[in-house]
Amino acid sequence: MNKNNLKYLIKKMTVIEKIGQITQLSTSFFDVSGVKATGTASRMNITNEQKWNIGSVLGKLDANKMLTIQQEYLKHNRLGIPLLFMTDVVHGYKTIFPVPLALSCTWDVNMVEKVARVSAKESSSAGYHVTFSPMVDVVRDPRWGRVMESFGEDKLLNGDFGAAMVRGYQQNDLKHPESIISCVKHFAGYGASEAGRDYNTVDISEWSLRNDYFPPFEKALNAGAKMIMAAFNTLNGVPCTANKWLLGDLLRNEWNFEGAIISDWGAVKELLKHGVAENVSDATLNTLKSGLNIEMMTTAFFEAIPELIEKNEMIEKYLDEAVEYVLNLKLELGLFEDPFRGVSEQREEENILHPNNRNIARKVARKSMVLLKNDGMLPLFKHEKIALIGPYAQDKSLLGPWSIDGNYQDVVSIYDGLVKKGAYVHTLDELTYHTIADNQISAAKELVRKSDKVVLALGESEEMSGEAGSIADIGLPSSQLHLLNEVAKCGKPITLVLINGRPLDLVDVVPKVNAILEAWFPGVEGGNAIADIVMGDYNPAGKLTMSFPYRVGQIPIYYNHQNTGRPKEELLNEPRYKSQYLDIPNEPLYPFGYGLSFTKFKYGSISLSSNKMTKDEQITVDIQITNQGSIPGTETVQLYIQDRIAEVARPIKELASYQQVQLQPGESKTVTFSINEQMLRYPHTNHQVVSDPGEFIIYVGPDSSVEESARIILSE
Ligand code: GLC
Repeated sequence: MNKNNLKYLIKKMTVIEKIGQITQLSTSFFDVSGVKATGTASRMNITNEQKWNIGSVLGKLDANKMLTIQQEYLKHNRLGIPLLFMTDVVHGYKTIFPVPLALSCTWDVNMVEKVARVSAKESSSAGYHVTFSPMVDVVRDPRWGRVMESFGEDKLLNGDFGAAMVRGYQQNDLKHPESIISCVKHFAGYGASEAGRDYNTVDISEWSLRNDYFPPFEKALNAGAKMIMAAFNTLNGVPCTANKWLLGDLLRNEWNFEGAIISDWGAVKELLKHGVAENVSDATLNTLKSGLNIEMMTTAFFEAIPELIEKNEMIEKYLDEAVEYVLNLKLELGLFEDPFRGVSEQREEENILHPNNRNIARKVARKSMVLLKNDGMLPLFKHEKIALIGPYAQDKSLLGPWSIDGNYQDVVSIYDGLVKKGAYVHTLDELTYHTIADNQISAAKELVRKSDKVVLALGESEEMSGEAGSIADIGLPSSQLHLLNEVAKCGKPITLVLINGRPLDLVDVVPKVNAILEAWFPGVEGGNAIADIVMGDYNPAGKLTMSFPYRVGQIPIYYNHQNTGRPKEELLNEPRYKSQYLDIPNEPLYPFGYGLSFTKFKYGSISLSSNKMTKDEQITVDIQITNQGSIPGTETVQLYIQDRIAEVARPIKELASYQQVQLQPGESKTVTFSINEQMLRYPHTNHQVVSDPGEFIIYVGPDSSVEESARIILSE
């Protein structure tokens, strides 16, 4: 089968067969156990003719289920077109890795590509062909539950990690049975949902879309992603699902995207709720004309297209185009030649939760964790009696949202991890997230009194994070704050380990503890990774990729903001009339790029190869980094650039490059960055992405709060 044959195949298809190919339902419709479809599926009366022509399915799967469904399906599909299996493998299939926001805190693109590679190997052996990942939505509002699914507030990192995951999933040969198609999401602007409330309105200027939100999608698509998912939200008044400017003019015509465009769950029919379609027929016509190819989990196309064609209100051309994009996915995967892609229970057994995969998960988890505070309390020693207290002390729900195929029994809890390390640790029966009874508080204080040090394992439950997990107050649950305050009264040193999927409001917590380790939702090896750090077997190196607000009132808060006409720090003699809050600082509690180590790194002064360059030259920036401590460590050196004067107000700084350096105690290394003209470009008001000659300020340091390091000139 090749691209030309596809056109002949389409010519042979009936209208129902074509509509089926562009409709996606859940695997529950094909449940081989004979159990009737449940939930949404049960409310959708699908005929057998429709069912055996569905083009793709999504939902839980394993090798046996996939083989059985595909065999049964091919017996019923008149033209023998194989079924496509899709899913949300977002941070692992069975070997669940840290959530993507945590992955980004590793600042290690190669490591994240490996995560995608392992995820593809495991999920393809279970029969999956496509994953709805990576999510590359730039996020600036931790009230939104899905920040855990993104790579943070910076467009460079979202693009680098997004592209790395695409490479890891797809490799260079989609016909290889261990490759899966990457579907990038959610296009576009979903991370800017108003007030951090999921599915809410999004209004972003085209300039900001092109400067802040589109670049990660361009990078992921340039890495070869074969699919993209339209976002639920309206974008400047028009729902992305039926946004012709977004899906047609921009994605197809300006970016020349040739892959398939899928809706999000039920989004085609949601056009009626948005108030841009009177009925299912309008919704169908709007979406297909806008460039959508597959609808997920509604039967709008089955309901509306036959009549639209009969009334000649919709030429079959849109239908045929959409069908071709779907069949092309199957062609790229080699499904026409081998609908089973070598899937077997034996291969599944060999690949899933392989010790090598767990080993990678442990390395990634500990590298993703960020040491926010340490007054010297960490690391702990094995002879010290540790009181491990909190809802996460023994709880195995460390997987985080979007770990639908993961199993809690595969998780190493914090208690397990500490015990396996031989730590002298005692804990209490599991405390819950939201209610901690007085007698439990008393028991906790009793245990603390008998211990040398305390590890408090607090945070969000998985339900407080992820899709539809928007929260207005991003502090710790009040019951946990009460527990912390009571334990603090015992006067023993406290390390706070946080299990959560978003930046939290910690400003009242910080003074009460001696150390804070941001562990995120760390995945199956979370307990081992936390124990590696807490007991000093691994020196933390993670750096924040999303600002921790001083208070929720600062939101949206992000490092690469504009200067404004009345910048607070430049108007020190002006007490009031400047851009500030009367009650809190402008700065976040912890800035983008921030993260401590058990050792200390000294930054020398930078040296430039020149302070002037033309468009076809480059400038190298050298800086010496020294490990001043007594243990080895890894530092992520960050280079930021500010375009001082430009056609539009440019951010006070933007991450331009980053490098990691491993240093032994006392060792120094020179880190070299290259700056070229391409790094100085930005979208002008005419949307041309070009640079302007002029002065640029360079910042090199350990996080985004770094002061100016030097200035360079880009000459004509
Ligand atoms: C969800 C999410 C999307 C996911 C899809 C399929 O509603 O918005 O990210 O891929 O449905 O599960």
